Amino acid sequence: MSSERDPSRRQIVQGALAASALAAVAHANRGSTGAASPAILSRAMAHELPPLPYADNALDPIISAKTISFHYGKHHKAYVDNLNGLLKDLPELGALSLEDLIKKVAGDTSKAGVFNNAAQIWNHTFYWKSLSPKGGGKPTGKVLDRINASFGDFDKFKEAFATAAKTQFGSGWAWLVANGDKLEVVKTPNAETPLTQGKKCLLTIDVWEHAYYLDFQNKRPDYVTAVIEKLLNWEFAAANLG
Ligand SMILES: [Fe+2]
Repeated sequence: MSSERDPSRRQIVQGALAASALAAVAHANRGSTGAASPAILSRAMAHELPPLPYADNALDPIISAKTISFHYGKHHKAYVDNLNGLLKDLPELGALSLEDLIKKVAGDTSKAGVFNNAAQIWNHTFYWKSLSPKGGGKPTGKVLDRINASFGDFDKFKEAFATAAKTQFGSGWAWLVANGDKLEVVKTPNAETPLTQGKKCLLTIDVWEHAYYLDFQNKRPDYVTAVIEKLLNWEFAAANLG
């Protein structure tokens, strides 16, 4: 009987091939100069679009399912596809985690495309988790204590966060970060992220126009106010603060 018609032999052969491929990837990942092909390596290490942490209409009416369909389904996905495309020609970067990749290429103008797409993947994944259909309101416990100590009171924090988000010129992000024991509000342009500044990110608001234009048109301040009052995920902030 030929191997083509023998299920048991076919399974054995396929299993051996799979084991061989995994061994090659493991060999390459140990930093060896072994013969793992870049194709195998890039497939093994491809970055993926993380799932949304809620249904696409869960943030409606502040952020509509239509906005999510473009923002997550088109923009966020495009950053993932773009990065995987760029890394095909940079196998030395293919084994790095997303965070390590961002930190490694930050400030390297020859890798600006890699940085922009990698950081935008990370920023967007962090943004989706910064929002919750059960969000908004006021935090409690350690997060509130740190906010009171750092900003004076919760209203002063909200004012600082809203001002950063409203005044970021052009595309970018507003962030609540921990810098040691002190909490700070910062804003970053384009794909820049506090991740490269040694600061611990707690929450973010995306203020690129694609985040709000379908729902709020040019009224960024209305989007920012609604997100702060109704969607900020304080449980996520508490988990990040640790
Ligand atoms: Fe965005």
